[in-house]
Amino acid sequence: MSKKIFSGVQPSGNLHLGNYIGAIKNFVDLQNQKNNQCVYCVVDLHAITIKQDPKILKDSIRETTAAFLASGIDSHKSIIFNQSQVSAHAEGSWILGCIARMGWLNRMTQFKEKAGKDKEKASIGLYIYPILMAADILLYDATHVPVGEDQKQHLELSRDIANKFNLDFNVPNFFKVPDPLIQKNFSRIMSLKDGTKKMSKSDPSDLSRINLTDTKEEILNKIKKAKTDTMPIPNEISELKKRPEVENLLGIYSSLNNQTTEKTINEFNGKNFSDFKDNLAELVVQKISPISLEITKLLKNEDYIDQILKEGAEKANEQSSKKVKEMKKIIGF
Ligand code: AMP
Ligand code: TRP
Repeated sequence: MSKKIFSGVQPSGNLHLGNYIGAIKNFVDLQNQKNNQCVYCVVDLHAITIKQDPKILKDSIRETTAAFLASGIDSHKSIIFNQSQVSAHAEGSWILGCIARMGWLNRMTQFKEKAGKDKEKASIGLYIYPILMAADILLYDATHVPVGEDQKQHLELSRDIANKFNLDFNVPNFFKVPDPLIQKNFSRIMSLKDGTKKMSKSDPSDLSRINLTDTKEEILNKIKKAKTDTMPIPNEISELKKRPEVENLLGIYSSLNNQTTEKTINEFNGKNFSDFKDNLAELVVQKISPISLEITKLLKNEDYIDQILKEGAEKANEQSSKKVKEMKKIIGF
């Protein structure tokens, strides 16, 4: 069966190894499976739910696009575009906002986390963020949406909105009800400094993450300094439970080598950490350095990136404006 894939990444700069393993690497795998049609969006409308510096935002949009391209997303096979160039997203989002219920949005845990203590000061955009995400997905009739575990609740809301619209207007199957694609393994890459915290672009310590733009020397240094413990590599996977940093490093190695953690343990058990870290550093450099070099190269040619986004937006616009037109007709406009 052919799948229609949609996913988005916010242009907030500093994409890291967690974004690569948890999201972008899968985007590339899905693109390269037969019969899949993929749409990958730089979600700049979502980014402005939190205050952005206009100059930096523009660079971040290009940087995220460059990271997509450098990682292997191919603009001839997939549609790559930025959300703000395709007006159907904002328009569709308004209509879906009249379908979604306050009670549904009030349950969203990401809003609670991002709004912090003073909810009165959060933007309305941050509150209705999941409705825009539903519009992104539903406008393209996406059947599958690859996301990290943290986005599961938003995807359930998209499903609820699709079902309610279909039911309210008696248009069964007008909106496809999308399925989440959440990786079973390696869906949470942790900080290199604290195995209980997610690797994140907002961590104040740059040593906690490997950025997709890091040089070879930076990668080697960060892996050398990554936190471990004094025991050797265990020979049982169950022993990793109490050793989150070790589990994380073995997970990074396994994921980048496309193998199970069991296999990695068999390869290294009983060895000490310096041996393992040498191998890990070599693998990360082998996988990430070419991406980093390509991002740097691409960013020197802004016109090229802008052209990719423009062509992607034209293709995305063709599909999504048709869907909005149909929505309007159904509603009675
Ligand atoms: P964000 O940077 O939060 O916009 O996330 C972009 C994509 O990367 C989403 O699909 C996230 O689930 C995924 N992601 C972000 N951080 C991590 C991490 N530490 N481990 C695995 N996936 C991640
Ligand atoms: N909210 C997602 C995140 O923060 C990004 C996103 C926006 C998205 N629209 C989407 C993901 C549609 C999947 C499908 O990671």
